[in-house]
Amino acid sequence: MSRRNPYRQDHHTRAARAAGYPARSVYKLEEIHRRLKLIALGQRVLDLGAAPGSWSRFAAEIVGGGGLVVAIDLQPIDAIAVLGRGAVVQRLEGDALAPNEELVAEAPFDVVLSDMAPRTSGNKLRDRYLSYELALGALQVARQLGREGSNFVAKIFMSEDFEDAKRQVSEAYDQVKVIRPEATRGASTEVFLVGARLKPEAMLPTPSAPDESSGSAPAGSSGASAPHVGTSRARSGGPSGSRATRSRG
Ligand SMILES: C[S@@+](CC[C@H](N)C(=O)[O-])C[C@H]1O[C@@H](n2cnc3c(N)ncnc32)[C@H](O)[C@@H]1O
Repeated sequence: MSRRNPYRQDHHTRAARAAGYPARSVYKLEEIHRRLKLIALGQRVLDLGAAPGSWSRFAAEIVGGGGLVVAIDLQPIDAIAVLGRGAVVQRLEGDALAPNEELVAEAPFDVVLSDMAPRTSGNKLRDRYLSYELALGALQVARQLGREGSNFVAKIFMSEDFEDAKRQVSEAYDQVKVIRPEATRGASTEVFLVGARLKPEAMLPTPSAPDESSGSAPAGSSGASAPHVGTSRARSGGPSGSRATRSRG
């Protein structure tokens, strides 16, 4: 039997590669944006679960030179992957659900994106529940760090908890939409919950950075280690291996 990845050569993968994006997932955000116009020139965008960087690059191309994209992931994000039309792109390595000093300092954001996905375990029920938790964690970050009127996109796997997640987004935003982009693979149960215009009454206080000495993680943390925060813009981090790097495309 062939060991080739059956998805390797699909249309979106080839197109993404040709256009310089590191992942085909860019076409999911491209479709969501084409339909709903969630991101605009000069805006500040927070991209949760950003590696390898396609969504951040797409967002950087839209916000342009006057805009900012903050990209955070548990995995490192390559600088080249996110370069786009002069926007400042700040790459952070760590748990997106435990906002650190560096992230909080860039708030408020006009748009909060989450393409976060759990590391799949093979247990579908468990993976779907973890996806629901990530979507709700992203919603909490969006309510803490989004400005009034900001927009929100979060990936979620379809499950019996989906309606609850949708209800929570609809309570926080003026308008909610569910989009399954054409680039989503046939077998996938993922959809995207989109919230337009964060309501003022749904905004949560901006969290203070975790106290590293206490070792405690803030509410909404996925349990992964919080990033070590420093003043250096480009360095290898402490024991957690976290790092923060800023570049201009
Ligand atoms: C589907 S990939 C994102 C692809 C990305 N949107 C792109 O276009 O290049 C999902 C990412 O979510 C990240 N992730 C999952 N849980 C996370 C968490 N708690 N904090 C930060 N990143 C997380 C994973 O490390 C993974 O890189």
